[in-house]
Amino acid sequence: MPPELDRNRWHPPILEGQLVVLRRHRQENLATVARWYRDPELARLTRYQTRPMSREEIERFFQTRLMSPDALAYAVHERATDRLVGITTFSALDADNASTLYHITIGEPDAWGRGYGTEVTELMIEHAFERLALHRVGLSVFEFNTRAIRAYEKAGFRIEGRLREAIHRDGRYWDEIQMGVLEWEWQARREERARQPVQSAG
Ligand SMILES: CC(C)(COP(=O)(O)OP(=O)(O)OC[C@H]1O[C@@H](n2cnc3c(N)ncnc32)[C@H](O)[C@@H]1OP(=O)(O)O)[C@@H](O)C(=O)NCCC(=O)NCCS
Repeated sequence: MPPELDRNRWHPPILEGQLVVLRRHRQENLATVARWYRDPELARLTRYQTRPMSREEIERFFQTRLMSPDALAYAVHERATDRLVGITTFSALDADNASTLYHITIGEPDAWGRGYGTEVTELMIEHAFERLALHRVGLSVFEFNTRAIRAYEKAGFRIEGRLREAIHRDGRYWDEIQMGVLEWEWQARREERARQPVQSAG
């Protein structure tokens, strides 16, 4: 199969939800992504180091993890306005064990808590199991990031374990929580949802 057609199969240009649209990255996204990653609050929520990323680190991250033709990364756009609000990626794709690691950052704080993160996570899990035929998607998240844990649980992830007191933040130690979702439990959840009667509004 020609490389571009093959890429369209495992990395379609668009994944569409009700609230968000995921698109492959474009070079012009760099300025926005760089602005997010200079924010100390984003560093607090997502990074092992407490300092925000340097410009060089952000540019390297953008080119290798988001723009590279073999990176399975998407820009998250708000569906109603098409505004770029975040990024999501898989890393550590392990073909032998059919597993990968999931990452998401909604970089615009005014876009937090509107259901975008949950929907992005659902779209990416569906892609992993339906298109990529993976068996497992895992992630890690800091214990204090309760909004993220809630969004991941709503999308189907379960807590599997914790690295005790692995993160020092805000003057104390916190656990790093490992979460995962398996293909068969995601299928079962989907079938369960399909059996439930449609809720009528009001
Ligand atoms: C984590 C993140 C992806 C979640 O996406 P989101 O769009 O904000 O989350 P959603 O709106 O889909 O869901 C959040 C849920 O957590 C709840 N929530 C919000 N703030 C919360 C808080 N401080 N504590 C606990 N739950 C919280 C919301 O009420 C919602 O649950 P509900 O629908 O049952 O009410 C997003 O906030 C983000 O990217 N934050 C910054 C970077 C980050 O933390 N990335 C993850 C690193 S592992």
